Amino acid sequence: MIRSLSLIVCLFSASASALAPNEHVGNFRLFDQLGGSHQLHYFSDKKAVVLLVQDLSCEASAAVDQSVTALTKTYGESVEFFVIDPTADRATIVASSGEARVLIDDAQLVGRTMDLGRAGEVLIVNPENWTLAYRGDANDGLRSALEAVVTGESVAQRRTHASGCDIVYAPTNGLEISYSDTIAPILADNCVTCHRPGGIGPWAMTDYHMVRGFSLMMREVLMTKRMPPWHADPAIGHWSNDRSIEREALQTLVSWIDAGSPRGEGADPLSQYAFQKPTWGTLGEPDLILEIPPTDIPATGVVDYQYKYVINPLERDVWVRASQIVPGDRTVLHHVITRFGEQATEGPRAGRLKRRSSIGGGLAGYVPGAEARDLPEGTGTLLPVGAAIEFQMHYTTSGAATTDHSRIGIYFHDSEPEHKINAMILANGRIKIPANAKNHSEQASRKFDQDVLVYSILPHSHFRGKAAKFVANYPDGTHEELLNVPNYDFNWQTTYLLEEPKFMPAGTEIVYTNWWDNSSQNPANPNPNREVRWGQQSFDEMIFGAIRYREIDASEGASLAGSE
Ligand code: HEC
Repeated sequence: MIRSLSLIVCLFSASASALAPNEHVGNFRLFDQLGGSHQLHYFSDKKAVVLLVQDLSCEASAAVDQSVTALTKTYGESVEFFVIDPTADRATIVASSGEARVLIDDAQLVGRTMDLGRAGEVLIVNPENWTLAYRGDANDGLRSALEAVVTGESVAQRRTHASGCDIVYAPTNGLEISYSDTIAPILADNCVTCHRPGGIGPWAMTDYHMVRGFSLMMREVLMTKRMPPWHADPAIGHWSNDRSIEREALQTLVSWIDAGSPRGEGADPLSQYAFQKPTWGTLGEPDLILEIPPTDIPATGVVDYQYKYVINPLERDVWVRASQIVPGDRTVLHHVITRFGEQATEGPRAGRLKRRSSIGGGLAGYVPGAEARDLPEGTGTLLPVGAAIEFQMHYTTSGAATTDHSRIGIYFHDSEPEHKINAMILANGRIKIPANAKNHSEQASRKFDQDVLVYSILPHSHFRGKAAKFVANYPDGTHEELLNVPNYDFNWQTTYLLEEPKFMPAGTEIVYTNWWDNSSQNPANPNPNREVRWGQQSFDEMIFGAIRYREIDASEGASLAGSE
């Protein structure tokens, strides 16, 4: 009640309630104009974070870039400087920006939350307690306030007058947004596949009361782009499994939460939602179901990768069109990588697969949140009679001992498909990540020696993985950025599925660059003081990319190349 009253006040008198010095500054994550991704609270090791508000159509903004350049020289590493722009989209900012990194607040949510009302205004955030230390002009006021914050003194003048143009915000009235007609459908579209009973989300959106109870936490995960979990740069490529939320839906959701999550009139669509999904999902009952030998998982500690084998029980070769792993215990199963081939009966590899087995080209692996899908149209993978299927099972302990009984379901083609699906692996076993490095990069690259059609891209590193990028260098000398993941998260092993398969001529080189954060600023880092090299376990590292493709013959290649 108190909350909604104060919101009504702020709707009618925005300036009086503007985020004031000493008030708390909530966390947020925004893209910059180059496709980087920055989270405010990452910079907890800095003396100050400075935000300079920009509106390119305003003259007061022009000075902003110069002040940033000058101040960056003075303070170096100890202060983080950003320009923030709640008025323009990325293309406009790219076309007219200078050297400074510009945080693009195109949903205007950070601007609204921090009351960024004037272009040319500057805010100093103190990372010690995430409070606002200063807001006002970019000249003398800023200089003395920043000096005080950096040296740990108290700031004499916390607020000065900033002259500059007013920033225009699209009008919203959260009180008028209907839970029944608008909010529940947004949640159903963007969240409920995971946040349902038996889903992988830690709580279920079963009705209005659950949603309202979690609404402030929802606001936080939306502002930091933690949810929905999607880590690719929206400006590069189009993905058929894109989980990101549309800008307008995001704005609506946050405005509704800021208005106190009003229930309003109408039925509750979530309480009538059919939450129970069939075990095998949209693909239906498989042609063959194989039990993966069970694994006992202790309550705590590190479990080495488990390798389990199942021999194809059919007395014939089959062409596989789809497959799907149904996890036994989702709380401990982190991921499964599947290969198949001939099992070695003697020698050092006895019991394991012989070299040259198929890697990732055909059968499904498992990662939380991935949906089962058919292989691309007209393609399949041949599972020969007698083949051994290897399951590399990665478990993380959950505090309670358990036994995992996972299964794989396999779907067959009736007849041989036109094309065989392949995977190209990009790896580099010589990586060496220095202790405490915040932004160390390494590369792996490979060439296609044949014309191909590319379907999907998977970047893979471990706890210290920070960002990943895939670029194609075509034989005609041109380059194309295929995928940019500026905010890699080991917990989400996403395979990025191209909306349109991409033709690449023979001689195309793919370069995969991966960045790692081996500093203590990375909360997932188990030990920042260790130089890290290639290894299977999550506390070692990898640069392991997989590109799924099929070969195409010369005549098909000519027509595909011509239609580009
Ligand atoms: C693909 C599955 C998936 C989707 C889609 C998804 N979530 Fe989540 N959500 C999770 C998982 C798993 C976690 C816990 C791990 C984590 O935070 O990454 C989580 C955590 C959360 C949390 C934090 C709970 C806590 O205790 O910290 C909130 C709040 C949340 N999600 C809200 C949302 C909202 C709102 C949406 C839609 C806009 C959404 N989620 C979409 C899977 C999902």
